[in-house]
Amino acid sequence: MSNNLEVIILAAGLGTRMKSATVKVLHRAAGRPIINYVVDLASQVSDKLPIVVVGHQREAVQKWLGDRARYAVQEEQLGTGHAVLQAAQVLGKAGGRKILILSGDVPLTRPETLQHLIEEHERSGNALTLLTMRLANPAMYGRIVRDSKGAVTRIVEAKEATQEEKKIGEVNAGIYLFDGDQLFDNLRRLSSKNAQGEYYLTDVLGILRKSGKRVGAVVVDDPVEALGVNSRAELATVESEIQRRVVEKLMAEGVTFRNPATVVIDSLVTIGPDTVIYPFVTLEGATKIGRGCVLDPGVHLHNVTVGDNVHLKSGTVAEDAVIEDEATVGPYAHLRPGTQLGKHVKVGNFVETKKAVFGDGAKASHLSYIGDAEVGADANIGAGTITCNYDGVNKHKTIIEDGVFIGSDTQLVAPVRIGRGAYVGAGSTITKDVPPDSLALSRVPQKVIEGWATRRREEFKKKKK
Ligand code: UD1
Ligand code: CA
Repeated sequence: MSNNLEVIILAAGLGTRMKSATVKVLHRAAGRPIINYVVDLASQVSDKLPIVVVGHQREAVQKWLGDRARYAVQEEQLGTGHAVLQAAQVLGKAGGRKILILSGDVPLTRPETLQHLIEEHERSGNALTLLTMRLANPAMYGRIVRDSKGAVTRIVEAKEATQEEKKIGEVNAGIYLFDGDQLFDNLRRLSSKNAQGEYYLTDVLGILRKSGKRVGAVVVDDPVEALGVNSRAELATVESEIQRRVVEKLMAEGVTFRNPATVVIDSLVTIGPDTVIYPFVTLEGATKIGRGCVLDPGVHLHNVTVGDNVHLKSGTVAEDAVIEDEATVGPYAHLRPGTQLGKHVKVGNFVETKKAVFGDGAKASHLSYIGDAEVGADANIGAGTITCNYDGVNKHKTIIEDGVFIGSDTQLVAPVRIGRGAYVGAGSTITKDVPPDSLALSRVPQKVIEGWATRRREEFKKKKK
């Protein structure tokens, strides 16, 4: 890592082609705004905070990045050259330093590629070394013009290019490494007399060449590294590339994917070895999965911490929850924020939980709502049990102590506490605390009328005649 390297990230543009109310660099790919990938990249090659040039929605961008960057403001978007010049306020005299320029909308560059660019710049003694790529369809990218000896002489923007120049397949990736003393003075010499009336950063190359300075290019092998996000279609391409990298990394770490093309996994998710991920699993936010787990089809987790050897069955949906080792959840369970399941817990089909803490070995196997509750270790909650936590105004807590047995179809009207080891008979509506080791029942006593059905059938027969 070079101490002598400053990084400028251009992020002042709105991104008109995104057709969005949100500034382009805050659009998300694999769960994070694209600018985050660029800031991460900067931190991998320089130990100084990058300078982000902000303009459109600059409060939102600055609020999001906070102290992960320094900021320069470009009040009016007069072009990429003008944008870089705004960083001079923050940098002061740049002489003696190297300046790396990245675009806030180019998130897929690998740190090794930048490292290579830095090495090449130092080896060659260039005033400017830039990253280029070869594209079958160079579209809107700036074309790299080389002379008969192969030296880069200038960059011509697509909008200015002649028919001949448009055929050039080598294009500007928008990533530049400058010697500090060659940058700001030359930016002040730029003119905006061009098709877009903008100060093009790319014109500095021609200026440097004319004053006899050396300019070089490093051609990146994989053009995806320089893919810019200018439209929703490009955002989708970037997202799928990040997904591909995430899954590839996880597989290298020992995770099995039954069908990797179908999963959606945010870039910060971690998964332990020997975990098996079935198709159509979505893992978002800061989700962490342990080792030896099985995630069946259709599991959807957001900010969930999962221990080891956990089985999440089909259709389990969880958010802001913790699931400890050896637990089993689902199929079709819904763990809402504040759910914590201890070791060996079983939460079965059509069970919904919210702010519910289950002790080790507790079970709610079928069709329950457990909200604002503490469930003790090894407690067993019968099918159809409901914690009535809401009185129309306030939420109240249900406490079920260790080893409690709640019979099926019970309503626990909170606030209420079921003491350790107690039983609640099936079909009860519990409105008062139950002492430990007792049995609570609230059903209407059963009545049996013998012969009633026989008599009724006989009455029916008579009527039919
Ligand atoms: C630019 C290059 C082009 C290159 C391409 C690679 C110029 C003139 N052209 O074109 O040669 O092939 O990138 O992706 O540089 N920005 C500002 N302030 C401005 C204008 C732009 O901060 O006044 C920022 C944008 O927010 C964006 C970046 O600079 O993050 C690039 O701008 P964009 O308009 O996308 O440039 P391209 O047309 O893609
Ligand atoms: Ca762009």
